[in-house]
Amino acid sequence: MTVAIAPAANSNSPASEVMILGIPKEIYPGERRVAATPSSAQKLQKLGFQVRVETGAGLAASFPDEAYRAVGCEIVDSPVALWAESTVVLKVRAPQHHPEVNQDEVDLLRPGGTLISFIWPAQNSELLERLAQKQATVIAMDSVPRITRAQKMDALSSMANLAGYRAVIEAAQHFGRIFTGQITAAGKMPPCKVLVIGAGVAGLAAIGTARGLGAVVRAFDTRPAVKEQVQSMGAEFLELVFEEDGSGEGGYAKVMSPAFIAAEMALFAQQATEVDIIITTALIPGKTAPRLVTEEMVNAMKPGSVIVDMAAEQGGNCELTRPGEVYDHNGVKIVGLTDLASRMANQASQLYGNNLVHLLSDLGGADNYTLDMEDTVVRQSTVVLAGEVTWPAPPLERPVPPQAVAPETQMAQDASQTKKTGVIQQLLWPVLIGAALVGVGLVAPESFISHFTVFVLAIFLGWKVIWDVTPALHTPLMSVTNAISGIIIIGGMLQVSGPLTSTVTILGAIAIFVSTLNISGGFFVTQRMLNMFRK
Ligand code: NAI
Repeated sequence: MTVAIAPAANSNSPASEVMILGIPKEIYPGERRVAATPSSAQKLQKLGFQVRVETGAGLAASFPDEAYRAVGCEIVDSPVALWAESTVVLKVRAPQHHPEVNQDEVDLLRPGGTLISFIWPAQNSELLERLAQKQATVIAMDSVPRITRAQKMDALSSMANLAGYRAVIEAAQHFGRIFTGQITAAGKMPPCKVLVIGAGVAGLAAIGTARGLGAVVRAFDTRPAVKEQVQSMGAEFLELVFEEDGSGEGGYAKVMSPAFIAAEMALFAQQATEVDIIITTALIPGKTAPRLVTEEMVNAMKPGSVIVDMAAEQGGNCELTRPGEVYDHNGVKIVGLTDLASRMANQASQLYGNNLVHLLSDLGGADNYTLDMEDTVVRQSTVVLAGEVTWPAPPLERPVPPQAVAPETQMAQDASQTKKTGVIQQLLWPVLIGAALVGVGLVAPESFISHFTVFVLAIFLGWKVIWDVTPALHTPLMSVTNAISGIIIIGGMLQVSGPLTSTVTILGAIAIFVSTLNISGGFFVTQRMLNMFRK
């Protein structure tokens, strides 16, 4: 299903055909981010949108009204007017009660309007219903699937990346020691030991930052796939002797069995006595955060230690966490801040704004704005469509992993398979091709046959060289094809010496041209690949 969105019905404005994007000031207490920065607003305008910003919306992120005005945005004083006149409202936080105008932001949205923001649909079903009653269309930035094509719109990752960094900075502020180990004339200082639980985007950013400050870092995650990423960042990956893979849908984790959770908690209990800082980021989207750090473990930590619970907003990974608070529990600081990304509001807004630009560009910009519900990214992130709650989206299809088969069974299966298909594959095709060749040989002139033989061999060689090669080997393959292209160029050069209008000369020239393209393209791509490995 494809839905085209009507432009803003603003009868006072001559530009009533224009799609208006409204950027309200965030009203969540302490929220400093804004959904568009002057730079992202400029990009939105290039996509054909008119951008209106509520006065003071970017101030807390160091973007004054003048900066928006300078790039052609209109500054609107009244939040009521801004919401009512916008075709699409871009926000950071989910709508809530507006303290200044004493109305809910849902009621400020114009009927049939579109809202794009964080929504957390799993936790906010009542909000979805209210938005549906407004005939609204709502895109939840937290529901953008983590697939390669959608990386540029993945606001969860952009925010988690900054938050992971900030978590370490907050830990450092409450930890009364330096991170790196030092040997000085006055004595030896051991390095600080950090345990990161959950090595998703936030966890990996925390590992990188803590390593950068000189700490010894250990990390644990239920998804074995992250082991190499953790190790490549210089941290130790803690492993459990337990057969259970935590990889779930859409690049996220799945809920683990109670036995697994018990086993990992035993590991954390032992780690708690050794490490100085624990940063917890464990989360399964749409679920309450798993409780992994108990009061007993906190009590076992050395005085002066710090726990940063990044999952505080989803209930916390530590059972003592107080969301939004930092407090001292018997000498251990427990940081339950829920605004880590907002504490880096300038860059967070810039990244979030860019995520929105990419999303709106993918939706066709202002001129071709459509919600194509056949598109995976649109389907997964659209939680309300023209008054109908469309959340949850059908689960993402995952490639079916090949079944593990015992070698003997595999051999037996292969043997019977070969027997069945062998006749077709091994006899029928050669017979058909042979018959076709004999047919051509009987009717075609002798000079044609020699060229034809070369042609058939070239097809066979091309097939084997290109088609049968795994994509991973395409770069080395390029040298082979470059060699072949070189031979073709020489052949072409030998043919272009005749009259300019002859078919042979023209074909020779085309061969030279195409092969030159292939060779230079090959060098260009190889150069780019090599650059990826250069620092
Ligand atoms: P993510 O989904 O990429 O990573 C979560 C990781 O936790 C995954 O790698 C998953 O495998 C792992 N995990 C799940 N269950 C586990 C378990 N039982 N034991 C060990 N590991 C487990 O999420 P992302 O983007 O890295 O965010 C992490 C957390 O940080 C989330 O709770 C998110 O809401 C929070 N966050 C908090 C902010 C704040 O201001 N406090 C700001 C941004 C993110």
